[in-house]
Amino acid sequence: MTAMQVVAHRGASEENAEHTLGAYLEALDEGADGLECDVRLTADGHLVCVHDRSLLRTGANRGTVSTMELKDLHELDVAAWKHPWADLDDEAPDVDPELGRVLTLRKLLETVADCGRPVDVAIETKHPTRYGGLVERRLVQLLGEFGWAGADTPVRVMSFSFTALQRVHRLAPEVPLVMLVEKAHHWPMLRRLVQPDWIIGPGIKELRDHPGLGRHLAGRRIHVWTVNTDEDLKLCQDLGVEAVITDRPAYMLEQLGR
Ligand code: G3P
Ligand code: CA
Repeated sequence: MTAMQVVAHRGASEENAEHTLGAYLEALDEGADGLECDVRLTADGHLVCVHDRSLLRTGANRGTVSTMELKDLHELDVAAWKHPWADLDDEAPDVDPELGRVLTLRKLLETVADCGRPVDVAIETKHPTRYGGLVERRLVQLLGEFGWAGADTPVRVMSFSFTALQRVHRLAPEVPLVMLVEKAHHWPMLRRLVQPDWIIGPGIKELRDHPGLGRHLAGRRIHVWTVNTDEDLKLCQDLGVEAVITDRPAYMLEQLGR
């Protein structure tokens, strides 16, 4: 049986500022099998790894990502909010600022390509339908530059939007896709739409709250988010889940005896 994959959610984001190069390098160091990231498009057409619509939570800036240019985003420190010294008088240690800047998807893919071992990248497009297909076109174009838009790719594309996944499928039919499922009651509708070889991505809370969902997903490849405790890991093991997406890759690997 293939081992369950441990995928670092936004990097090793429990201890590190999410979506920063620092968080991803830590996850690679810890031995994560894959890295998860959310992507958004900047005003000048770059895909950047950011979860929220704005950087208010992580960068103390009210601007929305889609109206800002990469050079302006790059000036922000998106790691300071997470550091223990942020609220204290302690002096910040001397950390390479590049580890705490907004990360482009290109840089993340380069980091994976250069890391010296096979690592998967699970890329989630955030609210892609607003851009009429531009996010998907840019994404597939970028994957193509790495030679990763075909069957032999370490990348999979995830979305809560069926439309977004369809677009990616049209542009790059061999790239694996993950249909994220927000609510268990969406599944009966989704199961009629999604192709049998698409991976299904339910949230762990839905699996906990709706034991029937696991039965409905039997026979499908399942990637679950966001799995941070040993109880939840055990539930995933019982359901034969293929990958867990976690803020705590080191802890999950330890629980799995790896
Ligand atoms: O991996 C899917 C999961 O990340 C979806 O939730 O809000 O963390 O992007 P969110
Ligand atoms: Ca995500």
